[in-house]
Amino acid sequence: MAAFVDSKYVILKLKDFRLTFRRFRYKKKWATTSQKVNAVLLALQNFDMNYGMQFGQLWPSVRVSLLSEQKYGALVNNYADTENIIKSFEALSAKDFVYESRSEVPSISSDIPRDLQETRVHSALGSQQHEYLCQDILLDTSGPTGTLEASVKERLPHFSINTNIKCFTFPRGDITRFHPARPDSSGLLRYYLMDASSILPVLALNVQPGHVVLDLCAAPGGKTLALLQTECCRHLSINDISESRLSRLRGVLHSYIPRELLKEDRVCITNIDGRMWGEVNRDNFDRVLVDVPCTTDRHSVTEEDNNIFKRTRIKERQMLPLLQTQLLVSAVLAVRPGGEVVYSTCSLSQLQNECVVEHAAEILATDYGIEIQLEDLSFFRSLFQKIFQFYNDCRLGELILPHLTANFGPTYFCKLSRRK
Ligand SMILES: C[S@@+](CC[C@H](N)C(=O)[O-])C[C@H]1O[C@@H](n2cnc3c(N)ncnc32)[C@H](O)[C@@H]1O
Repeated sequence: MAAFVDSKYVILKLKDFRLTFRRFRYKKKWATTSQKVNAVLLALQNFDMNYGMQFGQLWPSVRVSLLSEQKYGALVNNYADTENIIKSFEALSAKDFVYESRSEVPSISSDIPRDLQETRVHSALGSQQHEYLCQDILLDTSGPTGTLEASVKERLPHFSINTNIKCFTFPRGDITRFHPARPDSSGLLRYYLMDASSILPVLALNVQPGHVVLDLCAAPGGKTLALLQTECCRHLSINDISESRLSRLRGVLHSYIPRELLKEDRVCITNIDGRMWGEVNRDNFDRVLVDVPCTTDRHSVTEEDNNIFKRTRIKERQMLPLLQTQLLVSAVLAVRPGGEVVYSTCSLSQLQNECVVEHAAEILATDYGIEIQLEDLSFFRSLFQKIFQFYNDCRLGELILPHLTANFGPTYFCKLSRRK
């Protein structure tokens, strides 16, 4: 028998079984002892592969910006001591980019026939609006391939930018930081620091005085706060599936908004799966904001905590485009015919941006007989090009690219109108 035993094998095996004092023995636990794969690294590898192809020569510049310090904007709280805040920001040479956009109007109007040119500033029900002309684009889902074909439908009379929203930023190339906000004499915080490009989806929603509005995925509440600053919402429904994130949102609202404005007839907070919303509360809202969960690209390449590229979250990540599509379909069902929906993400991914919009439009047309119209938001580029880096080749909607001189975003936003 011994003749069949390979001596090398025996030595190896003996090495494995060499005596170890009992107290030094341990049982190998894979979960704790196997080498951890860094989620940030996985995110970067994934982005290098996908965004390298999507953005080509632009990607290295976007990549380095994503990895560099993000720039913030200060959303002024209209319910606090506004005048003093504005004065202090102006003393620092920060500018309200929403207000400043008025001076960009002539360059937009030059693209539009003279007979249609009109720029108006009016004050209605306490809301400041700057009105611009814009084009609507019809989304045609009836083509044989089921793909969307965009065609210019007609020039609509106006689009307004709500200048009740005041957001200060430092100029391009200036990386000065804002100090954390402090409360005014009534205890309300004076401003909210956020990625300034996150204001654009709220501006695109074009909320008008008296509107009933839904913020479908609202927590932790930056855009909700901006919606309330428009002073236009007759009623605002605020929803999120995460109870813990909703408690953060409640904290934000109580730090910025006077109690009397948070009464139930004005603001209602719910904690349901947004995918159900369209079925249970159909045709009800004038405007819906759907700021979906996504790969949060900047977070994914900088923070290990709560990173969606963790191995344990692969399924969740793969299912994101489906969840996003279902949320967008639900948002369109919730808006009344003629109402408008803004879809937004903080991802650069076409799969989570344009493809979701296309897929949702197909489902709405085939399963619900609902046609949507896509609004051309390219005039946002003319309005805000001094402050943000817009991507020139976005097929549908607009995308803000992180850039070293304007390190905001990524923010994608696309506006859909439900046809009557
Ligand atoms: C990008 S965050 C929203 C950020 C928020 N709009 C803001 O400006 O602060 C996406 C949110 O969607 C929520 N969410 C995820 N799945 C959801 C679902 N099925 N229904 C409703 N909300 C959902 C998450 O809890 C998360 O708070």
